[in-house]
Amino acid sequence: MTRGSAAGAGAGREGGGVRAGRPDAAAEDHGAPGAAVPYGRLPDARRTFDLVRRHFSPGLALTGNFAGRGAVEVGAEGCRVTLSDGRDVLDFGSYAVPLLGHRHPAVVAAVHRALDTLPTATRSLANPVTAQAATTLVRYFEDALPKVYFGLNGADAVEVAVKLARLASGRSRVLAVRGGFHGKSIGALALTHSPLFRAGLRGSVTDVAHADPEDAEAVRRAASRDGLAAIVFEPVQGENGVVPLPPAVLRRWCADARRHGAFVIADEIQCGLRRCGERSVALAEGLPVDAVLVGKPLGGGVVPLSAVVCSEELYAPLAADPFLHSATFGGHPLACAALPPALAAIEQRAAHGRELADAMSEGLARLRSRHAGAVREVRGRGLLWGVDYASPHLAGDVVLGLADAGLLVSPCLSRPTTVRLLPSLACGPPEVGEALAALDHATAEAAARCTEK
Ligand SMILES: Cc1ncc(COP(=O)(O)O)c(C=O)c1O
Repeated sequence: MTRGSAAGAGAGREGGGVRAGRPDAAAEDHGAPGAAVPYGRLPDARRTFDLVRRHFSPGLALTGNFAGRGAVEVGAEGCRVTLSDGRDVLDFGSYAVPLLGHRHPAVVAAVHRALDTLPTATRSLANPVTAQAATTLVRYFEDALPKVYFGLNGADAVEVAVKLARLASGRSRVLAVRGGFHGKSIGALALTHSPLFRAGLRGSVTDVAHADPEDAEAVRRAASRDGLAAIVFEPVQGENGVVPLPPAVLRRWCADARRHGAFVIADEIQCGLRRCGERSVALAEGLPVDAVLVGKPLGGGVVPLSAVVCSEELYAPLAADPFLHSATFGGHPLACAALPPALAAIEQRAAHGRELADAMSEGLARLRSRHAGAVREVRGRGLLWGVDYASPHLAGDVVLGLADAGLLVSPCLSRPTTVRLLPSLACGPPEVGEALAALDHATAEAAARCTEK
C-alpha cells in the first residue's frame, strides 16, 4: 500500500493546511462551543479516541482504533483516505458511500455554489435546486417512476416508502426478506431481518413477516392470507454478506404482489446507482416496481441524501397532503445541489466501472482457488463483493491484516464470515491490483496463523 512519509505528511498539515481552522486551534479546548474542528492542526489520535470514548462509546473508539491502527482520518481525495499518522489508505469500504471516490471536484464545486447562494433555504418557499434534483433523478431512471421524496439517509427513505404503501393500500402488513437490511430507525428496523439489531426491543411498529429468498410462493401465500401493503427487498443484499436474490423468485414475487394489489419496493440504497452495474438493478431486470429507494452515493459521497422514487399510485397520499410526511432538512438544497453532478459523473464512469468489475471478478475467482481452504465463497456484482471465509475468526484476522496493509474494507455485522469490498469509480486497474494483492497476502497470513493454532 502507498504510505506517505509520516513526518512529511504531518509537517504539511501542522503548517496550517486548508482544514486548519483558526491558527491557534490546537491550543483550544476542542469541547468548547464554537471551537475549531481540530482536523489538520491536530493529528492527535489519542485525544480523538478519548473524546469518542467519552461522548459516544468505548466500542466505537475500539473499532476506529482497530481500523486505523491507532490513527484517525484527517482527509481524503479520490480512492485514498489520509490518516493522522501520515499514511494514505486505499478505500474499498466506507459502507458504499463514496462510489465516485472522495471529494469529486464537480460535486464539491456544486455544493460550494449552493453554500454561497442559499444554504439552508427557508423551507417554506419553493427551491429551484431541490426541484431540479427531483427532475434529474426521475430522468435518470428514464421516467419509469415520476414522483420523489428526498430524505437524509437510507432509513428515512425506507420509512417513507412503507408509510406511503400502508396509507395508499389501506393495509398494514409488509413482507420483507430474510437477510435483508433496511436501516436501524425504529420503523426501518422492523424490516431489517437480523435480530442482532433488535436486541432488547420487543414488538414492532410495522407488521412485518420475512420471506425465505428461495421461496417463490411466499408472496402469493402471504397476500392471499392477510392482505399485503407491500413487499420490500434488496435485489442484492449488501449487509447480509453480498447475496444477490434469485431473479426468477423476484419476478414471481413482483407478479404476485401486483395481482394482489400490494406495492413492490426495491431497496437499492446499497446496490443501486451503478454500484452493481445498473442504474437500478430491479428496473434493469424488468421488475414491475412501484418504488426504487436510493441513498449512499446519491449525494456524490459529499453530502447526505436519499430518495424514494415512486409511482403516482404509491405517492398518492403525499400528493393529496404534502405535509403528511415532511422533515425540516428533507430535500435540503446543499444536499440536492450534489445530485445532478453526482449522477452525471457516475454515468461518465459507467464503462470504467464495468472494467473494474471484470478485474474484481477475475481477481477474486483467483483468490478463491488459491485459498480454497480459507475462502468458502466469493459473491458479488459490479463494485460490490463479499469474500466469505471459513470462520468469523479467520475473516476478522484478514480484516486486521488489511488494516495493517492500509486497505479499508467494510465488515458485515450480520454475517461476520464475510469481508465486503466496495471499490470506487476513482480506482484504476492499479488500485484493484493493489487491493487484490493485499487481500491475497492477508488471507495467506491469516490462514497460516489459523493452522498453527
Ligand atoms: C439496503 C440498505 N437499505 C437501507 C440502509 C440504511 O441506510 P442508512 O444507514 O443511510 O440509514 C442501508 C445501509 O447500509 C442499506 O444497505
